[in-house]
Amino acid sequence: MMKGFKTFNEEVYQYIADNFGDRDEFLSELNVQAEEKGFPGIQIAPEQLAYFRVLLKSMNAQYAVEIGTLAGYSTIGIAQMLSDHGMITSFEKNARHAEFAARKAREAGLAGKVQIHVGDAMELLPKFTPTYQFDFAFIDGDKKNYLSYFTMLLPLMRHGGVIVADNVLAWGNIADADNHDELVESLRAFNHEVTKRSDVLSSLVPLGDGMLVCVKL
Ligand SMILES: C[S@@+](CC[C@H](N)C(=O)[O-])C[C@H]1O[C@@H](n2cnc3c(N)ncnc32)[C@H](O)[C@@H]1O
Repeated sequence: MMKGFKTFNEEVYQYIADNFGDRDEFLSELNVQAEEKGFPGIQIAPEQLAYFRVLLKSMNAQYAVEIGTLAGYSTIGIAQMLSDHGMITSFEKNARHAEFAARKAREAGLAGKVQIHVGDAMELLPKFTPTYQFDFAFIDGDKKNYLSYFTMLLPLMRHGGVIVADNVLAWGNIADADNHDELVESLRAFNHEVTKRSDVLSSLVPLGDGMLVCVKL
């Protein structure tokens, strides 16, 4: 650990989670119901959603796009922050996940702000031609395709728009030089490729499993 920094022990992270986690009751209940349905508990952490809320509010975001809806925790959390007439388009390949998330969006009164496209984002995204530019993109689908998603999404973003990619610490394995798991290597390559680009500025925010936050220049 670098001299002077003692940030990332479990106790300190727990302090962040306890004090800076989102507390939306509808979304907490959504997670309970998703777990009861047997969905994997791989949604972003409440402290990540709290960070999204700050970002989205500061940008006055109107249009968002997401890869990987799951039960709609992040989708609905983002939709709640979009300005009037805003919209999040989320891609999800699992029909059960998509149906559940769409129902929860209706229950939240956000059906008009949430559009879920069911299918493989790798196939759907190249055919996706929105009539507006996105303020915010969240990449949280299959890890091996992160770089492809990033490359396809960047032209759809406005200048000053923000792309966030989740799990860029690869479940804590990113700095383990002995770990050559395929997904870990994919995430390493993604981090490397994005941070060397001159058309985005990027920063790693170590909430959850790490988020690469990039702004389009
Ligand atoms: C980590 S979860 C998303 C969590 C969600 N963003 C949240 O934080 O609430 C990943 C989701 O991506 C979906 N997924 C995986 N590969 C995909 C693909 N190629 N196209 C679309 N969705 C995909 C999975 O079915 C799963 O529901």
